[in-house]
Amino acid sequence: MRHENETGIDLDAILIGETDLAILFSFTRAYFRVDTECPYELVRSLRELMPRKRLIDLYNAVGYHRHGKTEFYRDFVRHLRNSNDRFVAAEGARGMVMLVFTLPSYDVVFKLIRDHFDYPKESTRAEVIRRYRLVFEHDRAGRLVEAHEFEHLRIARDRFDPALLEELLRDTGSIVRLEGNDVVIAHAYVERRIRPLNLFFLEADKASVEAAARDYGRAIKDLAASNIFPGDILTKNFGVTRHGRVVFYDYDELCFLTDCNFRDMPQPTTPEQEMAAEPWFSVRENDIFPEEFPQFLSLPGSARTSLFERHADLFCAAYWRGIQEKLRAGELPEVFPYRADRRLTNTRVAA
Ligand SMILES: Nc1ncnc2c1ncn2[C@@H]1O[C@H](COP(=O)(O)OP(=O)(O)OP(=O)(O)O)[C@@H](O)[C@H]1O
Ligand SMILES: [Mg+2]
Repeated sequence: MRHENETGIDLDAILIGETDLAILFSFTRAYFRVDTECPYELVRSLRELMPRKRLIDLYNAVGYHRHGKTEFYRDFVRHLRNSNDRFVAAEGARGMVMLVFTLPSYDVVFKLIRDHFDYPKESTRAEVIRRYRLVFEHDRAGRLVEAHEFEHLRIARDRFDPALLEELLRDTGSIVRLEGNDVVIAHAYVERRIRPLNLFFLEADKASVEAAARDYGRAIKDLAASNIFPGDILTKNFGVTRHGRVVFYDYDELCFLTDCNFRDMPQPTTPEQEMAAEPWFSVRENDIFPEEFPQFLSLPGSARTSLFERHADLFCAAYWRGIQEKLRAGELPEVFPYRADRRLTNTRVAA
């Protein structure tokens, strides 16, 4: 159902089966903010329709984050009691801003802001927190992983891989301390663990790689339509969900698309300019040169071909400026949480 205007509600689509519903109630979407006397009953009846969803995700989907957090914590503690594996560094590229770790038997990651950021990152802790908060409040367009902020997590010290614990105490010492036999973490983001796209591209079969490459382009476009520019579009910052959807999780450089300045590469007019190793034109902080993206993206051949076949426009500044114009004119290209073939047309129900 869509609330089109004051006069009525449109019946826009019919969703069929668990997968359709699961995408609508995904952890990558905005909250529904349901007003109910009894969220407990509501999420349990939703779970009958989507048995694979965790209660935390359903509580969040209907806007009850506190219930969701409590549910997560209870489940996490129960899981720790019934397992004995150790927390280890998350697979994939090491974060320059975040220290990310996980428990192999539990499908979430813990992300801690490092005390110092590697060069060339110039951000600050407060700035990183601000961007994560922006994602929490903004429409995530089905493409941004939900990050829950937790304070004072307490985990037994012997559950940590020693190398990870050493790294935590060294690189996030301002928010991690030892207290007796426990590790106490003052501040962390907890996210669903998904497969980083750079790893997925190395291990998946050709058809899945090609599909993921196309969805990677689509994800960037969906985010653009919701006025989000990811900042860093490298594949290490995207992941693949169990439904095969490509989503983004690295928020420290994320910003509003309308705040970016998308520029064409200036053409050199002298031999000196042509030979220059460094840019010979001035570049300001928000300047972005989409023509340069392909140079930075390291993709396996078949992924590159699929991405370029379907989404070559991403590499032209004019494409991005066009989206900015639409956003500024209030013509928001809508991103639907269901497949196009599930849509009905012109089925109007009186309010
Ligand atoms: N939700 C997630 N699921 C699985 N792995 C993740 C998740 N979030 C982060 N990671 C892993 O941790 C790494 C670092 O995370 P992230 O990109 O958020 O940190 P960062 O410090 O902002 O990175 P960068 O150095 O690119 O700015 C990722 O490249 C990925 O391998
Ligand atoms: Mg990253």
